[in-house]
Amino acid sequence: MAAVSLRLLSFLCCLFVIIISQASAQTCDNSRGNYTINSTYHNNLNTLLSNFSSHTEINYGFYNFSYGQEPDKVYTIGLCRGDQNQNQCLKCLNESRVSLADKCPNQKEAIDWRGECMLRYSNRSIFGLMENNPKVLVVRLENVTGSLDEFTEVLGNLMRNLSSTAASGDSRLKYATGSMPTSNFQITYGFTECTPDLSLQECTQCLGEAIADIPVYFNGKTGGNVLKPSCRIRFDPYSFYGSTLKLDPDAPPPATPLPSPPTNNNSSSQGKSNTSRIIIAIVVPVASVVLVLILFCIYLRVKKPRKENEIKREEDNYEDEITFAESLQFNFDTIRVATNEFADSYKLGQGGFGAVYRGQLSNGQEIAVKRLSRNSGQGDMEFKNEVLLVAKLQHRNLVRLLGFCLEGTERLLVYEFVPNKSLDYFIFDPIKKAQLNWQRRYKIIGGIARGILYLHEDSRLRIIHRDLKASNILLDEEMHPKISDFGMARLVHMDQTQGNTSRIVGTYGYMAPEYALYGQFSAKSDVFSFGVLVLEIISGQKNSGVRHGENVEDLLCFAWRNWRAGTASNIVDPTLNDGSQNEIMRCIHIGLLCVQENVVARPTMASIGLMLNSYSLTLPVPSEPAFLVDSRTRSLSEHDSMETRTSESANQSTPKSINEVSITELYPR
Ligand SMILES: *[C@@H]1O[C@H](CO)[C@@H](O)[C@H](O)[C@H]1NC(C)=O
Ligand SMILES: *[C@@H]1O[C@H](CO)[C@@H](O)[C@H](O)[C@H]1NC(C)=O
Ligand SMILES: *[C@@H]1O[C@H](CO)[C@@H](O)[C@H](O)[C@H]1NC(C)=O
Ligand SMILES: *[C@@H]1O[C@H](CO)[C@@H](O)[C@H](O)[C@H]1NC(C)=O
Ligand SMILES: *[C@@H]1O[C@H](CO)[C@@H](O)[C@H](O)[C@H]1NC(C)=O
Ligand SMILES: *[C@@H]1O[C@H](CO)[C@@H](O)[C@H](O)[C@H]1NC(C)=O
Ligand SMILES: *[C@@H]1O[C@H](CO)[C@@H](O)[C@H](O)[C@H]1NC(C)=O
Ligand SMILES: *[C@@H]1O[C@H](CO)[C@@H](O)[C@H](O)[C@H]1NC(C)=O
Ligand SMILES: *[C@@H]1O[C@H](CO)[C@@H](O)[C@H](O)[C@H]1NC(C)=O
Ligand SMILES: *[C@@H]1O[C@H](CO)[C@@H](O)[C@H](O)[C@H]1NC(C)=O
Repeated sequence: MAAVSLRLLSFLCCLFVIIISQASAQTCDNSRGNYTINSTYHNNLNTLLSNFSSHTEINYGFYNFSYGQEPDKVYTIGLCRGDQNQNQCLKCLNESRVSLADKCPNQKEAIDWRGECMLRYSNRSIFGLMENNPKVLVVRLENVTGSLDEFTEVLGNLMRNLSSTAASGDSRLKYATGSMPTSNFQITYGFTECTPDLSLQECTQCLGEAIADIPVYFNGKTGGNVLKPSCRIRFDPYSFYGSTLKLDPDAPPPATPLPSPPTNNNSSSQGKSNTSRIIIAIVVPVASVVLVLILFCIYLRVKKPRKENEIKREEDNYEDEITFAESLQFNFDTIRVATNEFADSYKLGQGGFGAVYRGQLSNGQEIAVKRLSRNSGQGDMEFKNEVLLVAKLQHRNLVRLLGFCLEGTERLLVYEFVPNKSLDYFIFDPIKKAQLNWQRRYKIIGGIARGILYLHEDSRLRIIHRDLKASNILLDEEMHPKISDFGMARLVHMDQTQGNTSRIVGTYGYMAPEYALYGQFSAKSDVFSFGVLVLEIISGQKNSGVRHGENVEDLLCFAWRNWRAGTASNIVDPTLNDGSQNEIMRCIHIGLLCVQENVVARPTMASIGLMLNSYSLTLPVPSEPAFLVDSRTRSLSEHDSMETRTSESANQSTPKSINEVSITELYPR
């Protein structure tokens, strides 16, 4: 697959330029061979494409012909939107032909899509084949207003309705259009079409997969197109199609073209008299066309610069999407080779969702592979969609998800490899912690905060991490933090839409009390974990306890007690003798604000970002943190204290904890 370009058509109108946001796109397939100018293949292709118009018997917009002798035989398919009459159709296909000659001058296989038609050719037989690739997505950048859930549901119904109508069409036309009121008095118009050489099942499948792409790529957008060789769908908040061709159900359809949409004679006829029919036919279109043109021109005059900019962005965006979707799926064998058959020596660790292996692809790129252990309880398609979504979360402070691999029951997630170990490896080690001076730790805190803020607010998905902890913060060569294991709730199917879950994933000590006890999670439960992390980073002590001689005290409790007593410097890791006292105290303060028991009193990640960046901002006084244990100092080993705590706090069967409870599943009640 290769060069993809997108051209926008423009028209002159009332001396202003209207840019019709209907795109055309070409894909030239470099992998299927090239032809040379004036070769037999070239001549066959030209002969074939220039002969469309002599097939006057075709008035249903579907051309499928081949010409020549193997190996220079050329196969071609031309398909017009179901509202295009013969002349319009031929005109559109001719435009496609000209455009392909320009954009794909020597590829044996190429496709051109535009608003009203699609043209493709190849040196292999392409008739009756259902093909989903290459796929082109065009998104409209306007956001949905009003309820997104409602919009998604109504749109889904509309498109599925249209899909079944289109699929049941005959071998001349598999096409359907329709509209539905979506939100805020807006109407969404949709269209679905298959090449009519597909069977009902094939067409249903092709369209179904295209519709499944809507929430993945166009979530929250008012319009989008999925263009594939065998089918296409489109939805937009304005009407972009005319009335569908009426084909004679039995006899070959008449050769005369049907009326074009604006001067459509007999569209809304049935019970009405001739006079009213004519009035409707003339008055409505003329009035509305004129009105629309005037409004549009006024609109453009006011908004033209922005509009152009928007379309430009649409173009960029769309090119991204293509490369993006292609590169995500890995072959199982590739991964098996990369990880030396998942050799133990390649194992980096065992997380709550499965073992993590280090690997190297044949091109030298290093990867980390998470082999999901749990049956994730969702279908392949759903899993893929979730991976596509999570892979879109890209931020300097997030470990990048490169792709996935599906093979039988195996589900693998492929991540970028982050060279240094996780934060806990450094800060809790009496020797290694020296590598992290205050400046570095301060940067790490800032980076983690930015990463979480992105997950919470800036990304499209608004993800709650639910298991933030030192071992989930990886460090790159420059000791920049990268958060790992985000989006797992989506990838292994836990209901993230509800703020209440019966399956708790998290790590004791980092979990906010409302989450640990009642399974209620929110962005504020991540804020709690962040606060614990900050205190750990500053103190160099695990949340499970600060040791004074025999005694072990909970970190939060220890920090709070010292803060209240005005001895906050006791909290600070003694190796941090270089740091700015001001910054350190401010960070302790922020940490304590995050771990407050009262969910509402905890700051949002956005305000934490502000607090970290602006010293002039006065911080509120923290209230007492949430203690999962009572604040009595106990003389217990760390391990025991963990266990006691889990059973005490969650009040149920003790999870089987291996030394440190890493990820634990609980089913409260
Ligand atoms: C199409 O052309 C390519 C490259 O020339 C060739 O490898 C392939 O076999 C051809 N396909 C057919 C069906 O002839
Ligand atoms: C075909 O031509 C394109 C450039 O037009 C080139 O990028 C591609 O590598 C060629 N493919 C083959 C198989 O020669
Ligand atoms: C292709 O053929 C045309 C006419 O037959 C000729 O004018 C043109 O120069 C030829 N082009 C090449 C690259 O051979
Ligand atoms: C062009 O179309 C006409 C009409 O269908 C047909 O008779 C003729 O064979 C076609 N020519 C070629 C080269 O395909
Ligand atoms: C196809 O388009 C080209 C360029 O726009 C034009 O020169 C040619 O006459 C058109 N052919 C037909 C059959 O419309
Ligand atoms: C649409 O919403 C996203 C966030 O959901 C925002 O980043 C983007 O700027 C919005 N786009 C427009 C055109 O309003
Ligand atoms: C079309 O959609 C409507 C409402 O959304 C629904 O009641 C109807 O059953 C659907 N028809 C088909 C054929 O799916
Ligand atoms: C084109 O498609 C129609 C049905 O859609 C089929 O009857 C016809 O045989 C096809 N033509 C060729 C050349 O395959
Ligand atoms: C519309 O109908 C009138 C008469 O009913 C007819 O003269 C005219 O040709 C029709 N227009 C089209 C585009 O078919
Ligand atoms: C359109 O209407 C005219 C009369 O206004 C009628 O003669 C003609 O048959 C109709 N055409 C179709 C396709 O229904």
